[in-house]
Parts: sequence; C-alpha cells; structure tokens
Amino acid sequence: MTPTQIILDCDPGHDDAIALLLALASPELDLLGVTTVSGNQTLEKTTANALRVLEFVGREDVPVAAGADRPLVRERFVASYVHGETGLDGPALPPPTGSPVEAHAVSFLAETLLAAPRPVTLIPTGPLTNVSLLLSLHPDAAARIDHIVLMGGAIAEGNVTPAAEFNIWADPEAAQRVFSSGLDVTMIGLDVTHQALLTPAHAERLRRAGRVGTLVGELFDFYHRFHHETYGFPGSPVHDAVAVAHVARPGLVETSDRAVVVDRGGELSRGRTYVDLWRRTDWPVNAHVGTGIDADAFLELLLERISSFDA
Ligand code: BDR
Ligand code: CA
Repeated sequence: MTPTQIILDCDPGHDDAIALLLALASPELDLLGVTTVSGNQTLEKTTANALRVLEFVGREDVPVAAGADRPLVRERFVASYVHGETGLDGPALPPPTGSPVEAHAVSFLAETLLAAPRPVTLIPTGPLTNVSLLLSLHPDAAARIDHIVLMGGAIAEGNVTPAAEFNIWADPEAAQRVFSSGLDVTMIGLDVTHQALLTPAHAERLRRAGRVGTLVGELFDFYHRFHHETYGFPGSPVHDAVAVAHVARPGLVETSDRAVVVDRGGELSRGRTYVDLWRRTDWPVNAHVGTGIDADAFLELLLERISSFDA
C-alpha cells in the first residue's frame, strides 16, 4: 500500500505533539514536513516544540518550517492555561539543537505541494492562518491538496468561549477562508474529540512501553490536570491526534456532509462554527463534519502506535 503523503500544520501543544508522534509511527502515512503556527503558544515556542519532539525520537530528517506568528487580523492569544509557559510543559524535554528550514511555512507548503508526486493531505491542528495564506498566495499549489483534515470547531459546544473552539476562535477569518475554499475539507470538532478520552490507565500503559510512552505519559499528566479541573473529565481529549488517526484509518470518525460557516463577529459568537446539521439553509455543503468516533478503536490505535517506538 502506498502511504498517504501528509503535512502537519500545527501549534504544539500537548495534543499536537502526540498527533505528531502518531503520524511518525503510522506506516499508512508519509510525513513530508511539519509547519508551525502561533496558537497554543507563540510561534517561537511552537516551532521549538515541534523540533524538540522530532529530535526526541531521532526524526531530525523531517523538515520543520515556521509560519505565521499571529492571526490574520485578530490579536494573538496563547493557551498557556492549558499547555503551560513552554507550550509543552510537563516532561523535561531539552531545547532543540536543530533549526527550522529557512523558508516560511507558507512557501514551504507551496514548494512541497508542487514537488510532491501525488496530491497531499494537509492536517491542520492549530489556527488556520498558514493554510489561509497558502490559499491566497499560492492557489496553484493549494490545488494540489487532496484533502484537508482539520481539528477545529464544533457542532454544539465551545472550549475557549461557550460558543467556540480554540483553533477556529483564534483566527476565524482564516478558518472561513478555508471552509469556503472549495477544497475537500473534513472538520474534526469537539463533539468528536470529547468522545475519546485518554485516561490515567492508558497513560500508565504507555509508560510501561518505554521511553516514548513515558514522554506521552508525562505530557498527559500536565495536560490532564486542566481537563480534570475544568470539565471533570475522567480523561483528556487528544484532539489533534484524532485528525491524524482519521487519515491513517479513514472511517474511524463518522462524518456527515454539511455546510459550515464561521462566525467572524464580536466576542459573544466569534469563532463559532455554524454547522447546518438539519439542512435549514441553502448554504452550500462544504465539509465532511465529524459526528461520531469509534473511541475504543482510536485509543487502541494511539496506544499501539506510540508503544511501537519502544518495541
Ligand atoms: C485545539 O486547541 C488547542 O489547544 C489544541 O492543541 C487543539 O488543537 C482544541 O480546541
Ligand atoms: Ca493544536
């Protein structure tokens, strides 16, 4: 089987880091590069974190390109209350020894897409600033995208405000640009990711697997404190890893083809993804919207793949 070529556009971030590890450990996927964006932390920190994770598993061969250091029009807001001051608080990961490539993430995306022998799947797991810039600046390269499978939005809940999910809220103008692009977009939102929780028992199993499992266990310990205190969840959603898992194993997330419009208005509704679930409008259908997940299959896949680093 020919692996699906992917690029991960991310803002690590605990769940981005786990998504990156899952991508590296999945033989169904060929990771062409990692692009970073300001989101969970500043661009400088999310870029360093991508490098730190790749170096930890000896995958310095995967290029990292740094992108937008702020949203298109909104003020930058980082999620240190979830991910800590470094963006990856918890484990004692050393600072990176390597550097990102010289090219800006948007140029890197364009060059990589144009050079790839077949269309590429883009997996954005942070604010959509880089992707939106790519669509505007390099439409020829964007046309080489096979699918966009993004983590963001929600049908019916919010995590940064009652109305909105963080990635979409952080840069709603960019998100609307992506949803209205005409490309094949899959939205993995909170309704889905909140159904598949990584629990302390899973983390314990990972720790027993070895060095990389222990890293993920330590990431979990920090990240889970927030989800337990805020939501009372017995485990933590590994949002971004669900998007990667859905590309590695299509069908893992159940989807419905629906219209999605992003609210670019004021504070109350900013970043809300209006999903026309019951087809109440004539808005054009523009996304495969995640509605359900085989949580056990996802968690088993995640544990198996992370453990395979230490096998
Ligand atoms: C999303 O926001 C970030 O905090 C996570 O990394 C994830 O991409 C969840 O709302
Ligand atoms: Ca993220």
